[in-house]
Amino acid sequence: MAADIWHDQAAGTWLIQARSTGYAFGLADDGAALRHLHWGPGLPAEVPAALLAAAGGEPPRWERSRSGARELPDEYVPWGGLRFDEPSLKAEYADGTRSTEWRFAAQRLTRQGATVTLELDFTDPAYGLTATLFYRAYDRFDVIERWAVLRSGGGQPVVIRQAHSANWWLPDRAGWRLRYLHGGWGAETRVAQATLGPGKLVLESRRGTTSHQFNPWFSLDPGGQTTERGGEVWSGALAWSGSWKLIYELTSAGHLHACGGVNDFDWAQRLLPGDQFVLPSFAALYTDGGFGAASREWHAWARAHVIGRGDRTGVTAPRWRTAAAPPRGGPAGSETPGPGQPGPGPRLRPVLYNSWEATSFAVSQDGQERLAERAARIGVELFVVDDGWFRGRRHDHAGLGDWTVDESKFPRGLDPLIKRVNSLGMTFGLWVEPEMVNPDSDLYRAHPDWVYHFAHRTRTEHRNQLVLNLARPDVADWVFGQVDRLLTENNIDFIKWDMNRPFSEPGWPAEAGNNPERIWVDHVRSLYAIVDALRAAHPGVEFESCSGGGGRADLGILGRAEQIWTSDNTDAWDRVLIQEGFTQVFPAQTMMAWVTDSPNWWTERRASLRFRFHVAMAGALGIGGDLSRWTEREMAEAAELIATYKLIRPVVQQGRLYRLASITADAYGAHEYLSDDGTQVVILAWWGPSPGGGGRPSLRLAALDPGACYCDADSGQQYWGAELLSEGLPVSGALRGDFGSALVRLARSPDRT
Ligand code: DGJ
Repeated sequence: MAADIWHDQAAGTWLIQARSTGYAFGLADDGAALRHLHWGPGLPAEVPAALLAAAGGEPPRWERSRSGARELPDEYVPWGGLRFDEPSLKAEYADGTRSTEWRFAAQRLTRQGATVTLELDFTDPAYGLTATLFYRAYDRFDVIERWAVLRSGGGQPVVIRQAHSANWWLPDRAGWRLRYLHGGWGAETRVAQATLGPGKLVLESRRGTTSHQFNPWFSLDPGGQTTERGGEVWSGALAWSGSWKLIYELTSAGHLHACGGVNDFDWAQRLLPGDQFVLPSFAALYTDGGFGAASREWHAWARAHVIGRGDRTGVTAPRWRTAAAPPRGGPAGSETPGPGQPGPGPRLRPVLYNSWEATSFAVSQDGQERLAERAARIGVELFVVDDGWFRGRRHDHAGLGDWTVDESKFPRGLDPLIKRVNSLGMTFGLWVEPEMVNPDSDLYRAHPDWVYHFAHRTRTEHRNQLVLNLARPDVADWVFGQVDRLLTENNIDFIKWDMNRPFSEPGWPAEAGNNPERIWVDHVRSLYAIVDALRAAHPGVEFESCSGGGGRADLGILGRAEQIWTSDNTDAWDRVLIQEGFTQVFPAQTMMAWVTDSPNWWTERRASLRFRFHVAMAGALGIGGDLSRWTEREMAEAAELIATYKLIRPVVQQGRLYRLASITADAYGAHEYLSDDGTQVVILAWWGPSPGGGGRPSLRLAALDPGACYCDADSGQQYWGAELLSEGLPVSGALRGDFGSALVRLARSPDRT
């Protein structure tokens, strides 16, 4: 269904009609305010005007109403007047005024490709600051995307102290449950939940990256009644890879809102006259189909409109452009389509080998060639050399910043290895960590002022490294130049872009007094600009986002990365939990998952090769074990499992994911993947330590045609859809002992034979 945005001019209301979602707001106070009217199921076009009229245009109260009249909160709230709840915007003008009063000034509605976008301008007449609120809806999706652009139009600078991308109001219901993702290094994206009471819950990153600790995604359901398979869900995700802050506030008037964007902690942005500042996009969706439907919507939308589509808000790289290769996500006519523009979806992810767990820093031409030969034998398609290949990099104390090949390890450069990898039928990928420097490096010795630091303060090292100040144009130029040179001089198809430490001492002494606090945003913008420009200049190269595991997983980086390294913890059983959280929002094809050695280096847990494969097959499959130590039997089993993965890959990576069991709720995990046409079904299930007493429950499948017949591709066993939906798929026979797993492939056939 085509998305649409209707404007009722007489009433001053707008209604966004997404696939089955309605979202409405309207002008009040003679255009001095924009009131929120509705977010939930679709609405008839006349309803927004009626909702606004019923509230009588009364300004929202800041306490519970005694009259019982419905109150309408402000859609996006500039701070000022009797406003005590979390505002959306706080600006400071040159004469010391710190509140904003604005008026509606103009609107623009545009359709481009599969999107319709509304822009509403509000201007503060006394100071000339204009805030443009953007709303974008997508054909065939329930996702609505919002962001704001601030323009300084007066003759004086303005300092932005707080500016949210969006403020999402929820309908007035009791007992809201928030589900969110939390974790740490090696324990990313775990689903947590909290019941929201009066007051605020603030989740954030102050680390300069998206962070391992919290992820800018939320899911809200009223009364805690929603399940995987049904019930209302309001879910949001911020497209930002730096410090962020999301606030969930049940106001004293009894309304719940979820708002946020770039973190205002230690941040301020000065706008000189004529400057504009674009806030990151904040997408959200409504569904009544439960958590599963919300995930499937995120996955399908990300595949269609996010992965590799560049910036969501049209911010493009101003530098390093070439006429031949404009930045992705740029204006119509760009080589790669931006969000909403027609174009092919992301391709299937290749099976990858990565040497990190096998060799650590001890990489060499011979050692990598031996691994490549074994990787090719089992069916790997992309061979990636991780950390350790560059000058001085024998351990993590030295080398970062000196991005030339270590000739003691690769005497004739990377080219002979790449040629060998290519001759084995694989493409070649390389690890880099370009935002970082070790103090023990030629780069740092030449440019100690290129890192974030405060005068007279310790430069706190983490993993023996410091963060380069990408807000500096000369540093950004240098970073682009280093990676561009590597990609130009070598036949590299894939870059794993790592970022292994958070920011500390985020200072820029040379800019003292000139708004150095802007680094929090400028670093991320610069990173985006560099990767956008690299992708434009090297269109065949694909990227993986890594930050010490899954510390940089968000919709912003997904515009520039085909996949995300999910976690440094490759223990298969731990991964079931991590993957359950990751796939709440990110599609399976972006979830890089390696099969590594047993016992696992981190947890020392033992699990069969088959179990480890079955867990990794739930995402984009990779191999990360030391293949030189795998027995011939293991190699043969791995080859067979990789061949099977290639058969199920289109369904896993591009189909619809139904969680049949949740590791958090059921103590085991099970996924069903269904092809878009409903003919191919893949089931993966993972059990932990045996509960004793034998037997495992049958898996009740989802979304099948009850009247159709489904045939097990391996056993030939046939089932009615109705049988699989109600009685379930029996799997217990395959599951004796600890860490059992099942992989079942079903094909729909027209008749039972
Ligand atoms: C952290 C990553 O998550 C690992 O996979 C590996 O690339 C190391 N960095 C290398 O230093």
